[in-house]
Amino acid sequence: MTLHNLMARIFCLISLLILSLGFNPCTAFSWKNASMVEGGIQGCRPSPHPFSLCKSEAEAFGYPCEDHKVTTEDGYILSLKRIPHGPSDGDNSTDDENTRPPVLLFHGLMVDGISWLLGTPKQSLGFILVNGGFDVWIANTRGTNSSRNHTSLSPKNPAYWDWSWDEIAAYDLPAVLQFVYDYTGGQKVHYIGHSLGTLIILAAFSEHKLLHLVRSAALLCPIAYLDKTRSKLSRVASQIFLAETTHFLGWHEFNPFGLVAREVLLLVCGNPQVDCRDVFSALAGPDCCLNTTTTCAFLQHAIQSTSVRNLVHLSQMVRRKGIRRYDYGNVKANMKHYNQTRPPLYNLSSIPTHVPMLLMHGGQDFLGDVPDTRHLLKTLVRNHEKDNIEVIYVPDYAHADFVTGFNAPQLVYKPMVNFFQRH
Ligand SMILES: *[C@@H]1O[C@H](CO)[C@@H](O)[C@H](O)[C@H]1NC(C)=O
Ligand SMILES: *[C@@H]1O[C@H](CO)[C@@H](O)[C@H](O)[C@H]1NC(C)=O
Ligand SMILES: *[C@@H]1O[C@H](CO)[C@@H](O)[C@H](O)[C@H]1NC(C)=O
Ligand SMILES: *[C@@H]1O[C@H](CO)[C@@H](O)[C@H](O)[C@H]1NC(C)=O
Ligand SMILES: *[C@@H]1O[C@H](CO)[C@@H](O)[C@H](O)[C@H]1NC(C)=O
Ligand SMILES: *[C@@H]1O[C@H](CO)[C@@H](O)[C@H](O)[C@H]1NC(C)=O
Ligand SMILES: *[C@@H]1O[C@H](CO)[C@@H](O)[C@H](O)[C@H]1NC(C)=O
Repeated sequence: MTLHNLMARIFCLISLLILSLGFNPCTAFSWKNASMVEGGIQGCRPSPHPFSLCKSEAEAFGYPCEDHKVTTEDGYILSLKRIPHGPSDGDNSTDDENTRPPVLLFHGLMVDGISWLLGTPKQSLGFILVNGGFDVWIANTRGTNSSRNHTSLSPKNPAYWDWSWDEIAAYDLPAVLQFVYDYTGGQKVHYIGHSLGTLIILAAFSEHKLLHLVRSAALLCPIAYLDKTRSKLSRVASQIFLAETTHFLGWHEFNPFGLVAREVLLLVCGNPQVDCRDVFSALAGPDCCLNTTTTCAFLQHAIQSTSVRNLVHLSQMVRRKGIRRYDYGNVKANMKHYNQTRPPLYNLSSIPTHVPMLLMHGGQDFLGDVPDTRHLLKTLVRNHEKDNIEVIYVPDYAHADFVTGFNAPQLVYKPMVNFFQRH
C-alpha cells in the first residue's frame, strides 16, 4: 500500500471517529482547503523510527523522562510518563523537583500521550509546562501502544477489550491520579484533559469522586453532551455502530489501521447521506493553525486503538439524551450490571461548584452549529462559584489546534498556566 493511500485512510478514519465523538467546536479538524489534501498527505515523509514519548521526544530535546507503571484495580498496566524538570544546564535542577506543582495531562480518544509533545519545546504543551515550573505527568490509557499489558489478559484476548470510557473514568483516571498524588508526597494535581479526557473527569466529578486529588482542571475541547449534534457524519457513524452492535462488538479492538476500521469506513462512505469527499476536503489543509510537520508526526505516531465498546458507548450518547453509563442493550443485562433497567446517569449538574475549572473551546466547526457545547457550558457555568470557573473561547480553533496549533502557546497555554498559578 502506498503511503498516500495509507495516509488518506488514516485521515478519513480519524475524522470519522473524532467526528462521531459528536460535534462541538473542538471535535472537527479545522482544515478546509481541498487542494491541500494531496500536497498535505504526500508531504508526510515516512517516519524513520518508531516514536517513543521519552526517547524520541523528551530526551531528544534534553529533558529527563521517567516511565512509571501503574496497575488499575481491574488489572490494566498503564504507562505513565513523567518529565520532572527541564534540561539541566549546569545547575542542579533536580533540587526543585519537590516544589514543582504536579500536573497531569490526559489525552483524548484514539490517541495517546505523545500528542502533548510532538512539537518543539517552545510549541508543545508538555514542554511548556515543564519550562513554566511544573512537574509534568502524561497518562496513556488502556489499549494504547505503551499501555497494553495486563495482569492476566492479553490484547489478543477479547476480554481485554471489555470496556468503554466508563472504565477509563472509573479505573484508569483514579489509578493514575492517585499515583501522581502519592509519588509527589501528597500534592494535589492540576489536571489537563483534551476531548475524551474531559468527559471522564466530568463524569468522576459528577459522582463527587477524585475531588481530594485534584487542585484544578483545565478542559480543552470539553465534551459531554452529544445528542444534539447536527453532523450527518457522526449520526451515520453512530447509527451504523448501533444497528450492528453485536457484529462490531465481536471485533473487540478498534484498530484504526485494521480491518474493522476499513469496514466502518466503507459502510459510512456507502451511506447516501454522507459524501466522503467532504470528509477529505474538510481535512484538506490547515486553515488556521496546524503545522504540517507536527500534523504528520501526529498522524503517524499518536493514533491508537480503542475498544469497539467505547465507540458503541459514544454512539449511544449521540442517539440518546443525557450522559449515561454503557447500555448493555437489554433490561436483563443492565439489571445484572447496574441493578436497574437503564444505565445510571452521570448528572453533570451535581458537579461541586467550588472545583476550579478552566474550559477552553474553539469556534471552528465546519459542519454546523454547536448546541451540545452550549448545553455543557450552561450546565457547568451557571451555578459555579465565579472565582473558580473561567471560559476561554478561541474563534479560529478546532480540535487539533488545541494540542498541535503553532500559536497555541500564546492563545491557550499561557492563560492556562496563569490559571494554574491562581488556583
Ligand atoms: C489552497 O491552498 C493552496 C496551496 O497552499 C493555495 O494555493 C490556494 O490558494 C488555497 N485555496 C484557497 C481557496 O484557500
Ligand atoms: C508501538 O510500539 C511498537 C513497539 O512496542 C513500535 O514498534 C510501534 O511503532 C509503535 N506504534 C506507534 C504507532 O507508535
Ligand atoms: C543533583 O543533586 C542530586 C541529589 O542532591 C545528586 O545526586 C546529583 O548528583 C546532582 N546532580 C548534579 C548534576 O549535580
Ligand atoms: C506484563 O505484566 C506482567 C504481569 O505483571 C509481567 O510479568 C510482564 O513482564 C509484563 N510484560 C511486559 C512486556 O512488560
Ligand atoms: C512548523 O514546524 C517546523 C518544525 O518545528 C518549523 O521549522 C516550521 O517553521 C513550522 N512552521 C510554521 C508555519 O510554524
Ligand atoms: C444489586 O442489589 C443487590 C441487593 O440489593 C446487591 O446484593 C448487589 O450487590 C447489587 N448489585 C450491584 C451490581 O450493585
Ligand atoms: C442532578 O443534580 C441536580 C443538582 O444536585 C439536581 O437538582 C437534579 O435533580 C439532578 N438530576 C437528576 C436527573 O438526578
